[in-house]
Amino acid sequence: MEFPFDINQLFSERISILDQNLVASRQSKEKPDLRVKIATVLDELGEASAKAQDLPAPITSASKLQFQKHQLYLMKDGESSRGRGVVVGFLKVGYKKLFLLDRNGVHIEVEPLCVLDFYIAENLQRHGYGLELFNFMLQHQNVEPVLLAYDRPSTKLLAFLAKHYNLRQSVPQVNNFVAFEDFFYKRAVSQLRRVKKPDGEIKPYSLMEREAVRQEQRTLPWPFAAPQSPHRSVSSQCSQSPSAGSSPRRVLPCVTHPAFAGDSREQSPHSPLMDCCRTRRSNSLSRSQLGFN
Ligand code: ACO
Repeated sequence: MEFPFDINQLFSERISILDQNLVASRQSKEKPDLRVKIATVLDELGEASAKAQDLPAPITSASKLQFQKHQLYLMKDGESSRGRGVVVGFLKVGYKKLFLLDRNGVHIEVEPLCVLDFYIAENLQRHGYGLELFNFMLQHQNVEPVLLAYDRPSTKLLAFLAKHYNLRQSVPQVNNFVAFEDFFYKRAVSQLRRVKKPDGEIKPYSLMEREAVRQEQRTLPWPFAAPQSPHRSVSSQCSQSPSAGSSPRRVLPCVTHPAFAGDSREQSPHSPLMDCCRTRRSNSLSRSQLGFN
């Protein structure tokens, strides 16, 4: 992604780590105009990512990053654009308190590092940049991919995880997060707190931002609200819990995804399997329950 200013002036490293302060270097800390440009980059990246994922609104922006304890890894190619540099993409992660179901259907309370947003510029996808960025984050956070939770991963991200990290079998959840089988085995027992199954529907402490933006869109009156595609009810084969009614448009990879069976290039981003595993959030969730943390 090109910008009408020098990307190398904003981001000195090939991969920069940004947090609430929106600071990528000592230089940008001291110069407010550089921070404005960094905010422009983040806003445009967030919009491009939302468009690529067919989200009604961005889940990443400069203002959101300033109010969330998330970390954003931003990758540039410093040589392109006649030496001014281009932005290749970004990866956003953060800790979330979640109720997850283990393989026995027992609710576990965890606070894993979650992959929240991930985007590589369209013309640069499938060139290995995503892998480089993801590996950088793993090293920086000192974590294995299987110990992460994934916030409603796209078909492309699922294919990416299967290809590079052999993550294929996930454990169905009643929220939108995807955890893979070894998540529960590899995590130290002390990190997994079994919880008494709450009465009524299960609500994660912090719902994913991408669902929150959908909620915001739904509350807008027509014609401002984005048209919603019709959702099907979750089928019993896609759910292990009677309280699955709280799960919004989630991906429940009950079995190995067909995307992993052959050449994923042939996969449609909206496969019937994905559709069958999506469902609608119960309207009983209030905005205060949609915690943004
Ligand atoms: N269709 C299917 N699989 C894909 C596609 C695609 N269009 N693009 C990448 N992949 C997967 C494949 O496994 C591919 O291997 P292959 O080419 O041999 O099939 C592999 O990723 C390529 O690895 P990289 O080149 O390292 O990945 P890339 O640089 O393309 O980054 C990413 C992966 C971030 C998923 C990128 O494709 C992208 O930005 N997609 C659009 C946005 C998106 O879906 N982001 C994830 C949202 S969900 C979330 O953030 C929790």
